[in-house]
Amino acid sequence: MTSKLQDPSIKQKVEALLGQMTLDQKIGQMTQSERMCCTPEDVKNFHLGSVLSGGGSCPGDNKPSDWVDMNDAYWEASMFADDNHLAIPLIYGVDAIHGNSNVAGATVFPHNIGLGAANDPELMERIARATAHEILATGVEWTFAPTLAVARNDHWGRTYESYSENPEHVASYAASFVRGLQGDLGEESIVACVKHWVGDGGTTHGIDQGNTVATIDELRKTHVTPYYPAIEEGVLTVMASFNSWNGEKCHGHKYLLTELLKEEMGFEGYIISDWDGIDYISEDYYQAVGRGVNAGIDMFMAPEGWRTFIKHVRSHVNAGTIAMSRIDDAVRRILLVKHAYGLFEKPRPAERAWSNHASFGGAEHRAVAREAVRKSLVLLKNENALLPLKKDARIFVAGKNADNRGHQCGGFTVAWQGVNDNQSIVGGTSIWEAIQAEAPNAILSSDVLGKDADPAQHDLAIVVIGERPYAEGMGDVRTGGNSKIERGSSIEGFMKVLDPYGHTLELAEMHPEDLATIKNISKKGIPVVVVLISGRPLVVNQELAESTSFVAAWLPGSEGRGVSDVLFGDYDFQGKTSFSWPKRPHIAELNLGDADYAPLFPYGFGLSYS
Ligand code: GLC
Repeated sequence: MTSKLQDPSIKQKVEALLGQMTLDQKIGQMTQSERMCCTPEDVKNFHLGSVLSGGGSCPGDNKPSDWVDMNDAYWEASMFADDNHLAIPLIYGVDAIHGNSNVAGATVFPHNIGLGAANDPELMERIARATAHEILATGVEWTFAPTLAVARNDHWGRTYESYSENPEHVASYAASFVRGLQGDLGEESIVACVKHWVGDGGTTHGIDQGNTVATIDELRKTHVTPYYPAIEEGVLTVMASFNSWNGEKCHGHKYLLTELLKEEMGFEGYIISDWDGIDYISEDYYQAVGRGVNAGIDMFMAPEGWRTFIKHVRSHVNAGTIAMSRIDDAVRRILLVKHAYGLFEKPRPAERAWSNHASFGGAEHRAVAREAVRKSLVLLKNENALLPLKKDARIFVAGKNADNRGHQCGGFTVAWQGVNDNQSIVGGTSIWEAIQAEAPNAILSSDVLGKDADPAQHDLAIVVIGERPYAEGMGDVRTGGNSKIERGSSIEGFMKVLDPYGHTLELAEMHPEDLATIKNISKKGIPVVVVLISGRPLVVNQELAESTSFVAAWLPGSEGRGVSDVLFGDYDFQGKTSFSWPKRPHIAELNLGDADYAPLFPYGFGLSYS
């Protein structure tokens, strides 16, 4: 798609506006605060170009109307004009990475690892379009999605944000998802942001924000590949990555940010930093600011410390250590994106056609999500053709993830780390609620461990097990003796210590209650269908041995009905795992193409009824 960024009339408007701006107004455009750390008055007085919601940072009662009201106030402040202020509309950003999942009542789609298994680029475009509508319903214009990470080590806490370990598979989705979000940049569109540039999924030991060791050829082949179709599609923003490449932080890497992404690959939008991402370039924040700006980042996610950021940039410009031409380049890119997106022409959020739109969380979007769930499920085992189930069977349902919409949604849902209950996820169905809707003779175990299973009353059991929600470093599984590996990723001398999720990918070690539940039932001669809720492949040899059928459901989101649709045979399985499945723990990496490739289930594996 010929990018509107090259439109001469837009370029002319941008140059005219840039020519009127003071240094403070320019630096303000380069600055993004978090909503809890700035008021509309701050937006006006400091000329802020953007505000974001971090995961779980929600206004009022977290209804779409609360979001619209908040955005309306920020927009109005940004449009104030007098001798000292120019009307430059603010752009608001959120992590709508699997639906507009911060907001109560939103349709929550499967996380990317499940979408990868669906292997359906056309579906990606429909998911992105529905997500765009649910973002617009809240008066927001920008999402930090899609993630184009190529996760190469399942120990990484963000594996579930990756479509696949295979860069070509990720690349096949990139343009579809960007097109679904950005479309023709008309009133149904949202600004997309591909992330995290670059090599986020390739760190040693899968340590979040750690170090990706690779030659430039390996980096290009594995981690750069998916960005080409996104840039070709005209993606308007890119987010820099926390990780280092061969020991140097991406946030301060001029070759990666300017020479490769902007000059060689021709990216014409703007680069935004990750959350305080420049802080880890140097222990001296003043130096970090100078290096981050000069490396080629254009807008800075400085949620709390944005005032200090502004002060330091101004000092650097006055000292000549940041050239005015670099400032102008950054602001030009930001204004180009805002004009290309039509932001200057849009009415205030409260008056936009899609604000508070009735389609938010509605049946149409939930049907798309339910289809995505169906297509994402991977059947790993099905002895004696136990599946599909009869709807009149006497089914015993157990397991900690059976009746928990929060658990099936995973991280970045309502809260940064996700939630652990049903009521926080407004709308949708848990897997138990979905089974109950189809099978009148199904019952939910009185305890999650399934001790009250009774072969006289129950023909079979469905046991829903696996992980609880997590996000980022708190989802890492960290093994090894080195304290840095155990406790955190070394960030050029900084230790950002996040307690990891666990120390092994072996589910029987990670969550022993799950195997116990299966055994409580199978030892009574009741055949067990296991449904695994997880953000990554796990070592499940013992659980597999104890079960008759085994389904990988990944993190399906709010629409549990997609699981029952397939368990009862209304639809067949079509999912094929987009990640290699390990047969034992502590494997450094296991990826398609490895010389000694020996997975339990290979990339592309998945059984079906037919
Ligand atoms: C987080 C994540 C990034 C997200 C940003 C804003 O730290 O790394 O993916 O978009 O901060 O929440």
